[in-house]
Amino acid sequence: MFYRLARNVLFAADPEQAHHLTLEGLRLGKRLGATALVRQRGGSPVRCMGLDFPNAVGVAPGLDKNADYFEALGALGFGFVEVGTVTPRPQPGNPKPRVFRLPEAEGLINRLGFNNRGVDHLVDRIRRRRFDGILGVNIGKNADTPIASAADDYLHCLERVYPHADYITVNVSSPNTRDLRSLQDEQALDSLLEALGRRRGELGRKHQRRVPMAVKVAPDLDDEALDGIAHAVERHEIDAVIATNTTLSRDGVEGLRHADEAGGLSGAPLRARADAVLTALRERLPSGIALIGVGGITAGQHAADKRRRGADLVQFYTGMIYRGPDLLGECLRATADPEPS
Ligand SMILES: Cc1cc2nc3c(=O)[nH]c(=O)nc-3n(C[C@H](O)[C@H](O)[C@H](O)COP(=O)(O)O)c2cc1C
Repeated sequence: MFYRLARNVLFAADPEQAHHLTLEGLRLGKRLGATALVRQRGGSPVRCMGLDFPNAVGVAPGLDKNADYFEALGALGFGFVEVGTVTPRPQPGNPKPRVFRLPEAEGLINRLGFNNRGVDHLVDRIRRRRFDGILGVNIGKNADTPIASAADDYLHCLERVYPHADYITVNVSSPNTRDLRSLQDEQALDSLLEALGRRRGELGRKHQRRVPMAVKVAPDLDDEALDGIAHAVERHEIDAVIATNTTLSRDGVEGLRHADEAGGLSGAPLRARADAVLTALRERLPSGIALIGVGGITAGQHAADKRRRGADLVQFYTGMIYRGPDLLGECLRATADPEPS
């Protein structure tokens, strides 16, 4: 109800400004103790990747790129927050405007290009955290790092965030960083995961703690590409696959205002494709490798559907813009274990 009113004001503003306003408002609300009024309850605990999640519903990365707001987001009742994507050095991202709403379709197109304040800022934010849910950190590469040296950027971020993250996601699927998606090719992924796996082993011994690692994939992959990803993920003892990132496809939004903007499409128009990739990955991966379903959740039943398809956990971003915290409440109820009869 409250969010429906606020939405009218927010949708009159530029999407990036609205994003900033909402998160600042949320943070202020938490400081004043007002977040308790909109805190969503319910859901059931889930054990996944060796971690105990208070519930199965999380914030997808991109919403809190610099880890400035995860305490406030957590206070809404999310079981986990994935911050990032973070890169070794700060970078501004692509020129504005670079985020576009497609309200008729409950969709969004963005070409932000990993705008973020760099890994040192992020580490500074998370090292003193009080959030008692699970904190994931999503890592990537700087735009000006040649793709041939991408592993150096991922290794740098891995090393910096390792002592502070509950799990770490290797993002090889953003459409807005040139050539990034080529890291999903089996050979390229194999050598990247090999390097990250080796460094994770060393860090695990140093810090006496094994931090689970996830790989986030695109929805625009054919069966052969999914086979390759499944093989690489299994070979390198990756703990989870996150499906999916935004899509380059414009299916379902043709003719709508902004549909031809360059970038990745998220929200309702992405759902069918993201769900298909989730199902295809569940068929290909052993049950010991977890799946996190993301893409197009705009109602509780979509979260439940992803769980039926084999997702252990779910995340959303665009749904938060269109539905606000109510969507979290719906998802918590839809993913709760049934009451014993
Ligand atoms: C504005 C925006 C920024 C995003 N930034 C990132 C990012 O930095 N890293 C990432 O892995 N995914 C990013 N994503 C993708 C989301 O995490 C998610 O995978 C995708 O939007 C599909 O979920 P949704 O339909 O619930 O939004 C971003 C999405 C949006 C809309």
